[in-house]
Amino acid sequence: MKKESIDNLLEIAKRAAVSAGEIHALYFENGMEIGEKSGSNDLVTNADFEAENKIVSVIREVFPSHNILAEEEKYKETDSRYTWIVDPLDGTNNFASGIPIFCSSVAVALHGEIVAGAIYDVTRNELFYAGKNQGAFLNGKKIHVSQAEKLSEAIMATGFFYDRGLNMRDTLRNIEKFFLANVRGVRRLGAAAIDLAYVASGRFTGFWEFSLHPWDFAAGKLIVEEAGGRVSGVYGEVLPIATHFVVASNNHIHEDVLAILKPEV
Ligand code: IPD
Ligand code: CA
Ligand code: CA
Repeated sequence: MKKESIDNLLEIAKRAAVSAGEIHALYFENGMEIGEKSGSNDLVTNADFEAENKIVSVIREVFPSHNILAEEEKYKETDSRYTWIVDPLDGTNNFASGIPIFCSSVAVALHGEIVAGAIYDVTRNELFYAGKNQGAFLNGKKIHVSQAEKLSEAIMATGFFYDRGLNMRDTLRNIEKFFLANVRGVRRLGAAAIDLAYVASGRFTGFWEFSLHPWDFAAGKLIVEEAGGRVSGVYGEVLPIATHFVVASNNHIHEDVLAILKPEV
């Protein structure tokens, strides 16, 4: 794919992510309406819907025929080779609780391969982005994954899916295993896209979560890879654009991380 075409897609991904961030800021300062998704622990606010509408309108203004896979609404499928993958507000539980850790995430895939992605955290004015084979950037500066070689130098991050069952217990067991392997620290921020952006920028060394949706990881996956990291499933397999176990790292510690997370049979 030509550099100019990737540049055009990336420009719109960045514009869409930032325009969603402006909506986040407005509601975070002035208050939002909060609802619950299907009686779970999964919240949704009017900012989620408004941010998604804004992102979709920014994309459609330039690429009206492209497909859109977004978290909150279903959009009509087209026969385009391009699919935009959109999380209008990642970290809604934080957002609704007044915790300033949330972002927007916008990626675009060509025939199922992610070619451009942007993650915007309005609270810190941080825009992370990457185009395929073009490197990863934070506010215009090139970023790289951490240089840590060993688990003992690693800050790991994780997330809990909204269940209160097996996945949660496995996550807790894995946190213990990382500490037993003498990892430097384990964090849980509550926004998977930010977790991945932080792996890309070297703030975190690695990240895992049992069950992420494509909109949680699509942009982050490309940004981590373009920053020199690796993103895979729990067996080291290529990550499909589907709900999946996601493991990300600076590459150096990937096999050690997989060995800890390997499901027991
Ligand atoms: C959630 C966040 C959270 C992760 C959940 C996601 P949402 O996304 O990324 O960190 O643990 O699995 O669903 O619902 O805030 O967009
Ligand atoms: Ca999300
Ligand atoms: Ca969301």
